[in-house]
Amino acid sequence: MSTLQILVGSTLGGTEYVAEAAQVLLEEAGFDSELHFDPDLNTLSLSEDEIWLICLSTHGAGDYPENFKSFAEQLQGVNAPLNDVRYGIIGIGDSNYDTFCEAAKNMDYILEEMGAVRIGDRLEIDVVDHPIPEDNISNWISLWIEDLNDL
Ligand SMILES: Cc1cc2nc3c(=O)[nH]c(=O)nc-3n(C[C@H](O)[C@H](O)[C@H](O)COP(=O)(O)O)c2cc1C
Repeated sequence: MSTLQILVGSTLGGTEYVAEAAQVLLEEAGFDSELHFDPDLNTLSLSEDEIWLICLSTHGAGDYPENFKSFAEQLQGVNAPLNDVRYGIIGIGDSNYDTFCEAAKNMDYILEEMGAVRIGDRLEIDVVDHPIPEDNISNWISLWIEDLNDL
């Protein structure tokens, strides 16, 4: 399997810890991965075997974090279907907002519409219940790894 690409959308930095914790768990399970703190579609492949793990918080009123906006715009400019891209997605948000985890929900919807195939369910971490969100990913990552091993 090719190197997993971990794409991070974060404004305050918390989601970077989630991504780094995910990378540790994935490496313990034998998967190589690369972290992208400023995701750039030009550095990614849309070819077969491409697997993204998107770790994405929500800001503004349901918006993408600043560092993720250009990636979302780049995706809009892709005309070919993303049939060869597979992805997992972890949203981080605060349930006090009506737009809880809206950025992750939107990105999930957009990728699916473009033909990419999600691996596993979308994880949504509520910082109200989990103030240290990276402590809440191991069960989900274990299931995700099972799905990766089944590919
Ligand atoms: C100005 C601001 C706006 C926010 N808007 C939302 C929102 O619309 N929906 C949501 O689920 N969480 C929202 N949040 C909560 C953040 O997603 C949450 O604090 C998250 O942990 C931040 O992750 P980060 O440190 O990676 O940026 C907002 C937080 C701030 C400070």
